Amino acid sequence: MRCFLKLFQLLYLLLFLLNFQSSLSSRSSPIRQLCSFEEASALIQFKSSFPINCNWGPACGKYYPKTNSWKEGSDCCSWDGVTCDNIKGQVIGLDLSCNCLYGSFPSNSSLFHLPHLQKLNLAFNYFNFSKMSTNFGRFTSLLHLNLSYSLTGQVPSQVSHLSKLVSLDLSRNYLQTLDKHTFEGLVENLTEVRQLFLDGINMSSINPNVLMNLSSSLRTLSLNDCDLQGKFPENIFRLSQLNDLGLSWNYFSGRIPSSIINLRQLEFLDISNNQLEGSIPDAFPNLISLDLSSNLLNGTLPSWLYTVCTLKHIYLNDNKLSGDIKEFQCKSLEEISLGNNKLKVPIPSSISHLVNLTLVDLSNLIGVVEVDMFSKLQNLQHLDLSYNSLSLSSNGGSANYTMPNLQSLELSFCNVNEFPQFLRGSERLEYLDLSNNRIHGKIPEWMWDVGKDSLWNLNLSHNSLTDCEQIPWKEIVYLDLSSNFIRGDLLIPPSTTMVFLISNNSLSGEIPSLLCHATNLEYLDLSHNNLSGILPQCLGNLTQVLFVLNLQMNNFHGLIPPVFTKECPLNYLNLNGNQLEGPLPQAIINDTFPQWLESLTQLRVLVLHSNQLHGSIHGPWSSHSFSKIQIFDLSNNHFTGPLPVKYIQNFKVMINLTVDEREMSYMGTGGRAASDFYNYSTRIAIKGQEIELEKIFFRLTSIDLSSNEFQGEIPKVIGELNSLKELNLSHNNLRGCIPTSMGNLTALESLDLSSNKLVGKIPTQLSSLGSLEVLNLSQNQLVGPIPEGKQFNTFGNDSYASNLGLCGFPLSKRCDDTEASVFHEKEDSESGFEWKVALMGYGSGLVFGISAAYIMFTLGKPRWLVRMVEEACYKLKRYLKGRRNL
Ligand SMILES: *[C@@H]1O[C@H](CO)[C@@H](O)[C@H](O)[C@H]1NC(C)=O
Ligand SMILES: *[C@@H]1O[C@H](CO)[C@@H](O)[C@H](O)[C@H]1NC(C)=O
Ligand SMILES: *[C@@H]1O[C@H](CO)[C@@H](O)[C@H](O)[C@H]1NC(C)=O
Ligand SMILES: *[C@@H]1O[C@H](CO)[C@@H](O)[C@H](O)[C@H]1NC(C)=O
Ligand SMILES: *[C@@H]1O[C@H](CO)[C@@H](O)[C@H](O)[C@H]1NC(C)=O
Ligand SMILES: *[C@@H]1O[C@H](CO)[C@@H](O)[C@H](O)[C@H]1NC(C)=O
Ligand SMILES: *[C@@H]1O[C@H](CO)[C@@H](O)[C@H](O)[C@H]1NC(C)=O
Ligand SMILES: *[C@@H]1O[C@H](CO)[C@@H](O)[C@H](O)[C@H]1NC(C)=O
Ligand SMILES: *[C@@H]1O[C@H](CO)[C@@H](O)[C@H](O)[C@H]1NC(C)=O
Repeated sequence: MRCFLKLFQLLYLLLFLLNFQSSLSSRSSPIRQLCSFEEASALIQFKSSFPINCNWGPACGKYYPKTNSWKEGSDCCSWDGVTCDNIKGQVIGLDLSCNCLYGSFPSNSSLFHLPHLQKLNLAFNYFNFSKMSTNFGRFTSLLHLNLSYSLTGQVPSQVSHLSKLVSLDLSRNYLQTLDKHTFEGLVENLTEVRQLFLDGINMSSINPNVLMNLSSSLRTLSLNDCDLQGKFPENIFRLSQLNDLGLSWNYFSGRIPSSIINLRQLEFLDISNNQLEGSIPDAFPNLISLDLSSNLLNGTLPSWLYTVCTLKHIYLNDNKLSGDIKEFQCKSLEEISLGNNKLKVPIPSSISHLVNLTLVDLSNLIGVVEVDMFSKLQNLQHLDLSYNSLSLSSNGGSANYTMPNLQSLELSFCNVNEFPQFLRGSERLEYLDLSNNRIHGKIPEWMWDVGKDSLWNLNLSHNSLTDCEQIPWKEIVYLDLSSNFIRGDLLIPPSTTMVFLISNNSLSGEIPSLLCHATNLEYLDLSHNNLSGILPQCLGNLTQVLFVLNLQMNNFHGLIPPVFTKECPLNYLNLNGNQLEGPLPQAIINDTFPQWLESLTQLRVLVLHSNQLHGSIHGPWSSHSFSKIQIFDLSNNHFTGPLPVKYIQNFKVMINLTVDEREMSYMGTGGRAASDFYNYSTRIAIKGQEIELEKIFFRLTSIDLSSNEFQGEIPKVIGELNSLKELNLSHNNLRGCIPTSMGNLTALESLDLSSNKLVGKIPTQLSSLGSLEVLNLSQNQLVGPIPEGKQFNTFGNDSYASNLGLCGFPLSKRCDDTEASVFHEKEDSESGFEWKVALMGYGSGLVFGISAAYIMFTLGKPRWLVRMVEEACYKLKRYLKGRRNL
């Protein structure tokens, strides 16, 4: 959920601060030499090699093309963004952050002719994903280097030559990697470094224990989202000057060592989103901000939490903490986030007096929560009490208090039956989630003024609303009204809307062409209504940005407008359950395997069935691709070549399915993926029956490659997928024997290998598949005895129909030794057994009309874009948690 736009505001703030700082430092003194001809011309050459383009590239809130003021012939020391030495006139500082530089950054850039540079800032420019040049190692005088959001590629080892560096910022460079050798060089040479920002760089090859050898002068170490793994590095506490430590979004496990107390200067600590376990240490230095959210921490809240009066921010949400919340002794607290643990009510009454609180997340507590206890917190900006039983005194009446500064309110799954009255004064509301409650009737008119100019996210889904007369919120970006009883015509969201979900209501009438003015729509879901008429031609105006279009289960008729082209960014299209007529948008469903999908590292469900995809499947290009996949369905296409073995090897989740504790968790929540907020509805075949999964359970694992033209043998590695539940390889051209390793698929519930050219015996190892409920080996060339025992006593004749020489239970044919050996001989000379596999009837169900729901992914969505959206998403989540430090 909660994506996109806020990122820009966030960056705006960041850049404002950034620019503010730099403007303080770029003064020049009158008594000094003019800048040298060489340096001036190097700068002019640099300027002329980049067009200025502020419409592209990293989202800067405040662009400022300083280079526009640079004029040949004038003293370069007076140019914007340039700082010179007070006496010699040498260029020692260059700040071109957010300068809208646009174009490739050559490795022989004239910038490298400024040998005296001490400060260089090129952050937030678009360098076309140029790699960071080894020549950066030539700036040996540099004290400050900031290249965040600018360059990419491997961090060159030459950076470790910059041994005078006091601050280094390479954060948020897409696809940047930092290898072990280079990092060790940095650790060895950067002895003066006080601030190190490497967020977002892939540092997976680095042993976190090396961190302890970093310069002891280090004050800030920011390694968020660096793919670091292993036990939490205990000895990091040798960095005794550390003031600010960020290690969030990594893969650290183990306990937080109690020696953390040795970091006496530590004020800001963020180790959120790791896999830390055990309890929170008994003591901590004088922290201002603590974020240990989204780990596996257990035990009770430590007592120091209530008494350390420096503390302003506490983030312990999404752990397994239990017990009571005690009274807070200090009034310094500004942000408390304890939601999604196993903590008990009552909420301590002292919270009512923490007048500086701006953020409270006490979602998912055990017991009834009194909302009125927050009535005095007039500074409150963010309140999340979701998944609680709420007691709202105003229910049925009117509240005698307001929350004038409220920006976000989350009361999902709270059993409330009306819009909370205290919202009446919340003019600045931006984010409101009242989904999954019992709110009925219409949206009251007073709500139209709540956040009129500010509300950008409104989720009222899963209530009992019957009417929604208008959508008065001008800034709305995300609007979810799905699963209510809303009647009448389709409402038109304002042009700012990017996500509009109004499925599962009772809308009727046609799609008004006014909808086509909502040209920012990326997700449009009108499914499961009574809408009718033809699809307007002007949908073409939307398909330039539309990412998800779901119109299934309505009464649309007529032709599908020819508006879906290969260039569309469309990712999901569902027209199932209407009376639409072909021809199908061939251009978008006739293609080879969309390789770029690999870059969606969080992808759990890939359903591409019943398209016209063809060709053989190569790759993967990365060892991480599809490692989270649980449902992999390429059935009913025209794929050829061998089964995609290398992908199958990557299906790590199918090897060790880690199940979320909360059994009711659905796919598509809680991950980092951009599409978090949208539950793809998909039809897949389970145990031979096609069913629709509105939401897909975590426990399901399935591979369906049926009805293609795959050739070759079934790979042995498939036996490693010991959490696999559904395997369907039927209706292909597979040859060879059934691998004995399949006897290790102990979780398997359904196995269909029918209609292939498999030979040999059924491995006796299959009899150990204790969960197997459905087996189909029919239409092959199998011989010999059917294994006996356990599940094999439950399958009927159909499981084995049309094979050459199977015998034994349940078939009437008894096994005798001679028969088995005859077939053994024949097995070796496959030629005699060429017979056409019956593909008829299964074929592509897409020739006339659209009967099958299909999901389609277009080619060409570059990885960096995907990452950018993902990143926007999780930053936004943090924004919502009121974070100030990125
Ligand atoms: C960089 O090299 C390219 C050729 O590789 C050349 O055309 C260009 O002039 C060079 N630029 C500079 C600033 O030396
Ligand atoms: C450290 O810096 C010196 C000079 O700047 C350089 O010669 C040396 O190679 C660097 N060491 C590493 C490990 O990069
Ligand atoms: C906390 O988790 C650890 C394992 O990580 C376990 O050994 C311990 O018993 C748990 N403690 C509590 C209080 O649940
Ligand atoms: C509340 O915040 C204000 C402004 O930052 C500060 O002056 C005041 O001391 C804070 N109150 C408490 C109880 O910490
Ligand atoms: C609202 O009314 C209740 C009694 O009905 C009272 O206890 C409370 O202090 C009032 N709140 C405010 C903010 O006036
Ligand atoms: C769709 O786009 C065309 C061409 O850009 C424009 O003329 C037309 O008015 C647009 N229709 C709507 C409903 O926005
Ligand atoms: C699919 O594309 C291939 C090559 O691009 C083409 O030969 C074939 O006719 C197309 N099939 C359909 C059904 O459009
Ligand atoms: C699966 O889990 C076992 C035991 O927890 C572990 O030893 C093994 O390495 C895991 N395998 C993978 C592929 O993660
Ligand atoms: C099944 O798994 C076991 C244990 O992992 C392994 O030793 C055995 O070789 C596997 N069997 C086959 C046939 O691959």
